[in-house]
Amino acid sequence: MTESMEATEATDTVAFPQDRTCPYHPPTAYAPLRETRPLSRVSLFDGRSVWVVTGQKEARELLIDPRLSSDRRHEAFPAPTERFAGLNDRRIALLGVDDPEHNTQRRMLIPSFSVKRIAAMRPRIQQTVDGLLDAMIEQGPPAELVGAFALPVPSMVICALLGVPYADHEFFEEQSRRLLRGPTSEDSRQARDELDAYFYALIDSKRRNPGDGLLDELIQQQLASGAVDREELVRLASILLIAGHETTANMISLGTFALLQHPERLAELRTGMRAEPPLMPAAVEELLRFLSIADGLLRVATEDIEFAGSTIRADDGVVFSTSLINRDDATYETPEELDWHRPNRHHVAFGFGIHQCLGQNLARAEMEIALGTLFERLPGLRLAVPAQEIPFKPGDTIQGMLELPVTW
Ligand code: HEM
Repeated sequence: MTESMEATEATDTVAFPQDRTCPYHPPTAYAPLRETRPLSRVSLFDGRSVWVVTGQKEARELLIDPRLSSDRRHEAFPAPTERFAGLNDRRIALLGVDDPEHNTQRRMLIPSFSVKRIAAMRPRIQQTVDGLLDAMIEQGPPAELVGAFALPVPSMVICALLGVPYADHEFFEEQSRRLLRGPTSEDSRQARDELDAYFYALIDSKRRNPGDGLLDELIQQQLASGAVDREELVRLASILLIAGHETTANMISLGTFALLQHPERLAELRTGMRAEPPLMPAAVEELLRFLSIADGLLRVATEDIEFAGSTIRADDGVVFSTSLINRDDATYETPEELDWHRPNRHHVAFGFGIHQCLGQNLARAEMEIALGTLFERLPGLRLAVPAQEIPFKPGDTIQGMLELPVTW
């Protein structure tokens, strides 16, 4: 038996995913996986053993390997939870398809998420952030920051971009919550079906009364020309809406929490906010690395792959632990520290390869504006209750705060 095989078998009993002990550090129970970098084995909820990638250089190699598929209908596709397994009966646009189909879908959307288009949205994002903070400040402290700010910012922004009425936000936020964190897989499936029904109705109504969002553009161009059908358009709308608000909301809430727990860093950020060049973009990039909120990207091997001294066999499941990859000490000095002065271009918080986050420019703009304005307008912002009493999300979903009671 080779040394690497012994090492990988040694971690076979480590369960994946697991809850974090501290909301911004990888689960302490993943410690053995650090010893067996870059590739180890872990056990999923159903007892299945899969590969887990934990090395940064190796993750970037494997994430561009076409022998790893994202197609969730593949019968060997790994499921991190029962809820997830229950959703694999239907296709997911973009995230759940391989090339060439993936490329066709992505090409339709790229112009709407380009650096230039997102830069043009900045004044509107700033307006949204200002309006929400005005309302929160007017109500006076304390406030629950997830509900008052972290969730509505990206929710309003993605609604405006897509042309989805924000008046429906309670409905779609609830369905996203059930889909990602519902109590049973049946409940998650129902939530998905309700969201699909909502989009079928919205698309039909937009065909009669066109608006000026991305969905309207897709209806007028892609649906009208037959490049997509109604079903595919619903799947695209659904992934864009869910990915567009759940993820950034968690980055804003957890980012705020983590900064409040690092007062020296926060003080530096406050003074550097208006500096030239401003500190905020580097701070956001480092927060993305440090928090790694989408922890556990999923793939299945379609062929045997010789890799890092092991053989990943066809039909083997592969998960990428972004929280461990982004703290690989072969790439980062002092990876456990929040330090925006480090070189940090190659983190995988947005993934890598063909599925690398389509909304990353938008997410960056939202985080810079939301966090920058929040700390600028509320210099006395602090937690309203002891940090250890604040609930955060379980390990089997996107990481973030469930609530964030603050005062100022
Ligand atoms: C800070 C917030 C965000 C984080 C951390 C994040 C993270 C990620 C990650 C890790 C992936 C790759 C998944 C994989 O390879 O399996 C991804 C893909 C994706 N993200 Fe984001 N995301 C964020 C914000 C957004 C926003 C605002 C949107 C806007 C619509 C968005 C839309 C998407 C889409 C559509 C994909 C699939 C892309 C494809 O398969 O081609 N994300 N995201």
